[in-house]
This record gives sequence, structure tokens and C-alpha cells, in this order.
Amino acid sequence: MTAHLNLVDVGVSFNGFKAVNGLTLSVNQGELRCLIGPNGAGKTTALDLICGKTAAMSGSIIYRGQDITALEDYQIARVGVGRKFQIPSVFKQLTVRENLEVAYCKHTGVFSNLMQWSRSSDSGGLAHLAEFVGLADHFDEPADHLSHGQTQWLEIALLLAQDADLILLDEPTAGMTAQETHKTADICQRLKGKHTIIVVEHDMGFVKEIGDIISVMHQGRLLAEGTVAEIEADPKVRQVYLGSAGISGA
Ligand SMILES: Nc1ncnc2c1ncn2[C@@H]1O[C@H](COP(=O)(O)OP(=O)(O)OP(=O)(O)O)[C@@H](O)[C@H]1O
Ligand SMILES: [Mg+2]
Repeated sequence: MTAHLNLVDVGVSFNGFKAVNGLTLSVNQGELRCLIGPNGAGKTTALDLICGKTAAMSGSIIYRGQDITALEDYQIARVGVGRKFQIPSVFKQLTVRENLEVAYCKHTGVFSNLMQWSRSSDSGGLAHLAEFVGLADHFDEPADHLSHGQTQWLEIALLLAQDADLILLDEPTAGMTAQETHKTADICQRLKGKHTIIVVEHDMGFVKEIGDIISVMHQGRLLAEGTVAEIEADPKVRQVYLGSAGISGA
């Protein structure tokens, strides 16, 4: 079976420095994959390559059987790839509802027949999305009333309103309280199956709560892959995390 997303020997350099260097990674449809690795391992760059923010210099990226390596970012968004950046892209002055309406205007329609979010074609659907990320009580409040955690969840709802199928999250729990981190893990768990998710995360509490397959990057490539237990027992992984209080202190 071909994977939903395949990165084959992908590479990119910045001024001769190989930030991603022969990365090969496969993610199946409906999977929730955690991507970890030490600072500078190339995790953010890997997401940049998948969503087309950065163009790959070598290798290929195949999504749903289509070679997207050379596509522009807007074209990749149109085939169903949604990326949440570390800096929020919500409109602070608009309400949660209005933010979702703006995002829905950009929806691809590609998956609307397949996904449960098909109901988002009306305001009832958008309310359902707000409820899904725990913002039902804030639907008609301006986004600048939201806490940091709530803003991150709104961002995820915006990707859903845009009809993203593959969702890329870069450190979604950064700056969150333990309770917010737990809620974010819960949102990811509930998205799994309907959507395919790749989440870059340093918080091992979050990664353990997710409990699915983890991919570990180091020096621009895949170092190891497996369950939490397998990753924690892997001598190669332990080696790269030496000096940073081990993997759990990552
Ligand atoms: N646009 C760029 N120009 C130059 N160097 C870059 C650029 N983007 C990334 N790099 C370098 O590539 C390497 C990988 O960076 P990247 O941000 O992908 O790492 P990361 O795994 O996300 O790290 P972190 O955990 O700190 O977020 C780093 O050494 C970084 O300095
Ligand atoms: Mg990063």
C-alpha cells in the first residue's frame, strides 16, 4: 500500500548548510505522527518543505499519489495540506465566527464530501467546528479576548474550515499550561482518522499522551521511528539527546 504522504530522500540547503539532508518519511492516511528531534534537527524545515513554504532541492514529496515537490505553496494548500505556523494567523479584531467564515471562504472543497466538516458550509457547521476545539462559548467574541491556548485551537479550527486533509502543526503546545497541553492532545486524538496529522513537538508529556508512532529527526534526516518505548530505548536516540537531560528533558 502506498502511504498517504511520502518524502523520498528530500533535501534542502541554506547557504551550503544541509538543513534537511536525505529525509525519507512515510505517513499513512488518518495517522497522528509525532515528529521530534533536538534543536536544529530540521523539523520545521521538513514541514516547510511539505507545505511548499520552502522548495526541495532534491528528492520527492508524494501526497495522495501526486508529486507535489515542485508545486507552489498555494497549490499544495489547494490539494489539502494545511499548516499551522508558530505565529498565529487569526484576525484579532474579528470574532471566532468571523475568523472561521474567512477561512471557510478559502476552503478547497476537495474533501467536503468525504469529511464530516461538510456541514461547515453553513454557520451551523462553523459553530460545530468551534465546539470541536472547545470555543463554543466564545463563538461571537473577538479573537483578541482568547487566551494563548484558545488562539492555538482557533488556528486548528481555521485549518478545518479551509478543508485541510493533512494537518501540519509546529509545536502547538509551546507556551501552554499543562491543562491546555492535555486539551491539545485530546483535539489531535479526535482529529486522527478523519485527518492525517504531523505534529512537531518538544513536550514529551504530550508525545507520550498521543502514544502513536514517533519519528525522530537528527541532522536533517530520520534517525529512528517507533513507539515511545522503542524510541526511549534506542541507543541512537539516547546518544543525540545526551547533554539535554535525555529524551524526556527534550
Ligand atoms: N531560512 C534559513 N536560512 C538559513 N538557515 C536555516 C533556515 N531555516 C533553517 N535553517 C537552519 O537549518 C537547521 C534546521 O532548522 P529547523 O528550524 O528546521 O530546526 P528544528 O528541528 O525545527 O529546530 P527547533 O527544535 O529549534 O525548532 C538549523 O540549523 C537552522 O539554523
Ligand atoms: Mg522548529
